[in-house]
Amino acid sequence: MKNILVTGGAGFIGSHLVRLLVSKYPNYQIINLDLLTYAGNLENLVEVQNKSNYHFVKGDICDHELVKEVFQKYQVDTVIHLAAESHVDRSIKDPFSFAKTNVLGTLSLLQGAKQVWGNNLNNKLFYHISTDEVYGTLGKSGFFTENTSYDPHSPYSASKASSDHFVRSFYDTYNLPIIISNCSNNYGSHQFPEKLIPLFIKNICNNKPLPVYGKGENVRDWLFVNDHARAIDVIFHKGKIGETYNIGGFNEWKNIDLIKVIIKTVDKLLGRPEGASEELITFVTDRAGHDYRYAIDSSKLKNELGWEPSLQFEEGIEKTVKWYLENKDWVDNVTSGNYQKYYQEMYGSQGD
Ligand code: NAD
Ligand code: TYD
Repeated sequence: MKNILVTGGAGFIGSHLVRLLVSKYPNYQIINLDLLTYAGNLENLVEVQNKSNYHFVKGDICDHELVKEVFQKYQVDTVIHLAAESHVDRSIKDPFSFAKTNVLGTLSLLQGAKQVWGNNLNNKLFYHISTDEVYGTLGKSGFFTENTSYDPHSPYSASKASSDHFVRSFYDTYNLPIIISNCSNNYGSHQFPEKLIPLFIKNICNNKPLPVYGKGENVRDWLFVNDHARAIDVIFHKGKIGETYNIGGFNEWKNIDLIKVIIKTVDKLLGRPEGASEELITFVTDRAGHDYRYAIDSSKLKNELGWEPSLQFEEGIEKTVKWYLENKDWVDNVTSGNYQKYYQEMYGSQGD
């Protein structure tokens, strides 16, 4: 029996995790606390919304009184904390909201756990979901390990680094049982189409320009989102208190090469001539502070807890593209309203 508070469970990774936990563990109560910002969508959770072990609370993690109420009402013994502002480009335009949600929101949850749990820390866990971006950027070689020093460059990664430091400080100072995991870029269904892969799938379908930052030479390490959710499940059950685990699939792609794979897959599934949509590639001004390369060494997770990615990249990309093509209504719903304004500000007249 567990009473697990998942924050940000209506977002991209959170909704995959909630669906996994609710169906795999009928004896666990899963409480999803989510503010439903532009990135959170209850449509992602229709599959579990009527299950008796699933509970939804709409609210802000920064609302400390609400956080304590939720801890008490549901007798929360485990937190899996994903709620965050998560898009680097938005953090460049509005760093304050990143500091608020990612830093103060995390602190509000930590304080809630500390105050409600008190000295009764048996079988308690505060599991914080973080990113490889806290480690900064790599050159052409090398990997981020759990011992790599933090060196964030964007307001997003700086806010996540700060939240990681707060989480660790609660372990060192108050013995709060914590675990942190730092994962590489995720891809898959239900990702908001402002991030590279869903944005480009959407634009290819609509014959819109594909805005490639700089020369498209930057490298990211891509993991299928279901494999991240599986890793969180493994770490939450088998991870050691106080430890950090890096999560990644040893799957590095230069942006421009990845974009060509996406184009090929979408064109194939739409019945267009192979590579026809390459003409949509448009090189645009580089992102400020753009980290050159991320690459995760996840061997600790494999060697100590036995986790490995389940899927080859080509299979994952095909599944992902199919999902977006079959769920155009989802894309249309989440990208109406405020999204239009954001896209206009971000990419000017290139958007739709
Ligand atoms: P997302 O932007 O898709 O979802 C974030 C969720 O948090 C949304 O449901 C949103 O409504 C909710 N939220 C935002 N502010 C809130 C607040 N103040 N109170 C309550 N809920 C709030 O994000 P994601 O891509 O699913 O990322 C989830 C977590 O995983 C984040 O902490 C992120 O830093 C981390 N992460 C993401 C990736 C990635 O590639 N997407 C990689 C590594 C780590
Ligand atoms: P993104 O999906 O925003 O993830 P992150 O910045 O967290 O790694 O971007 C992935 C890569 O794609 C990154 O190097 C920036 C680049 N990119 C573009 O070239 N064009 C775009 O429109 C976007 C959103 C990203």
